[in-house]
Amino acid sequence: MCGIFGLVADRDFDLGKALVEAGRRLAYRGYDSVGCATISASGHIDLRKDAGKIDAVDARLGLHEMVGRRGIVQLRWATFGIPAARNAQPHLDCDGDMVGAHNGNIVNNVQLREAFLAEGHTVRGENDGESCVHAVERYFDRGENMVDAIRCAYTDLAGDYAFIITHRDENRLYAIKKGSGLVVGIGDGLTCCSSDLPSILPITRRIVRVQDGELVILWPDGFELRSVADGAVIVRDAETYEEGMAAAEKGGYPHFMLKEIYEQPRLAGELLRLLDSSAEMPECVAMIRNARPLFLVGCGTSYHACLLGAYYMNKLAGQVAVALLPQQFIEQYGNSLTPQAVVVFVSQSGETKDVLNAVKFARARGVRSLGLVNVIGSTLTHMTDHYLPLACGYEISVPATKTFLNQAILFRYLAGFGIDTQSLHRLPHLLEQTIEQTTAAAERVAQRLIAWDEMYYLGYGITHPIALEGALKLKEITYAHCEGIFSSEFKHGPLSAVRPGYPVTFITAPDDAEMMINHINEVTCREGLAIAIAEEDDRLRKNVQEYVIVPRAGQLLNPIVATVPAQLVAYFMAVGRGIDPDFPRNLSKTLTVD
Ligand code: AGP
Repeated sequence: MCGIFGLVADRDFDLGKALVEAGRRLAYRGYDSVGCATISASGHIDLRKDAGKIDAVDARLGLHEMVGRRGIVQLRWATFGIPAARNAQPHLDCDGDMVGAHNGNIVNNVQLREAFLAEGHTVRGENDGESCVHAVERYFDRGENMVDAIRCAYTDLAGDYAFIITHRDENRLYAIKKGSGLVVGIGDGLTCCSSDLPSILPITRRIVRVQDGELVILWPDGFELRSVADGAVIVRDAETYEEGMAAAEKGGYPHFMLKEIYEQPRLAGELLRLLDSSAEMPECVAMIRNARPLFLVGCGTSYHACLLGAYYMNKLAGQVAVALLPQQFIEQYGNSLTPQAVVVFVSQSGETKDVLNAVKFARARGVRSLGLVNVIGSTLTHMTDHYLPLACGYEISVPATKTFLNQAILFRYLAGFGIDTQSLHRLPHLLEQTIEQTTAAAERVAQRLIAWDEMYYLGYGITHPIALEGALKLKEITYAHCEGIFSSEFKHGPLSAVRPGYPVTFITAPDDAEMMINHINEVTCREGLAIAIAEEDDRLRKNVQEYVIVPRAGQLLNPIVATVPAQLVAYFMAVGRGIDPDFPRNLSKTLTVD
């Protein structure tokens, strides 16, 4: 997830140091490229940027030596377009009069870029932040002032973003907000703005929260808020931020895991907008549809997304897809790969060694591949023929949450491409409702589970992968043993574990309620504790002791929605046990070993 920070002061000073420091404080959001622009009193713009981490880029380009009275630093998290100097931000306009940077996604970037090239703009890279600058320049060159040029550009830029821009001749910064975070800080002889609080708090605690559809103008001793729609001035007083830095980084949540769970509705929407505008999608889908066979390969949570992906391929596209662990792919299918085979490799980090081993194996045999990956620029994005981004930003908490949801959405999108992708657009709202409606119930269920050191999660058909994922989350952060099982298999052995009060959670999609009631009764007649995660259904309600009701999403989207309370149950149980869910013992976020 990119980060931006801009500052305007009443005198030239060693601004480079302040920008590097602000950049470091945005680094927790994740990034692969860095850039700084400073503007001196005379209007000279100094721009230095490259792919790499902030200290490495600083060592190469001397960012901390830059001087000026206005400046912008940007940390870029690549979605489309490789991490490279030309795509690093900030960006200049054609004649070098303006400089700007954004965070977020401009989903019509491809179309805008084509239009700017046709209009004769000097477009230097593929990055959508550059399109923001050209979009303002286009109207400025037609005679609009900066405020109106930005307001006009806003209507051309589709997507969720925040954007800072300045003109060499004005000692002001301009910033707009549409969907991404933007906070203003009021300091002594300076003002600043940023995507997030951690870069502002060491400078000042006097802040103003900019809202969507607002433009803010910053000068050294003041600011003005305006509505983008009509240009009218908005009056809002600065507030004093009282919390500490750690709270600011977690966005006010007690743990990154909870923050990342709560980010899911927004990120689902952002991913869908990216996919709708992806120029690569038809080619990726054609590759998958023509695959014989199609393998879906990943580890841990990413493997569970592959399992769900296989259901989507079967149910929506009538296509056989084989979900496998990387080692299984090599050992079980390695000798029977054909030229028509295609592998979809799924990974949050793009660096999991087990997955990369399988990628190498497939490449050596000429098998084509697609990566579904969160960290763009990771090894996986270089080793697959194509990749599609999960667009989740940095996932800090060791348990994967938001990346699983976007993996599931991406699989549902690929399977439904040309058939039905429209219904997916209900998801951001459904996920919001799910968080609202299930948080309290999940906390209650967690309390009932907290004393148990073993339990089961059962799913039937399309919810089987969610049972596995719910169980993985629970064992990963609570240290209890929890097994995920296909519900009809329970009677073939595991049922012997059931005794009075023994907890079994049934994740049930609406069409499978009747079948699941049989499996529930196998547990309840032995005095086990049956918990349902399902849409409201009277038949289920009569047969379980605990019911977590998810909103009506239908058979295919139910597994995505039902994941959220399973994540929450694990979260609350871990916290109840005094375990930090973000950093469970023995585990690492990225496993680069065999
Ligand atoms: C999930 O909560 C785990 N932390 C783990 O299973 C993870 O999904 C697995 O290690 C795969 O990682 P990747 O997606 O980065 O390849």
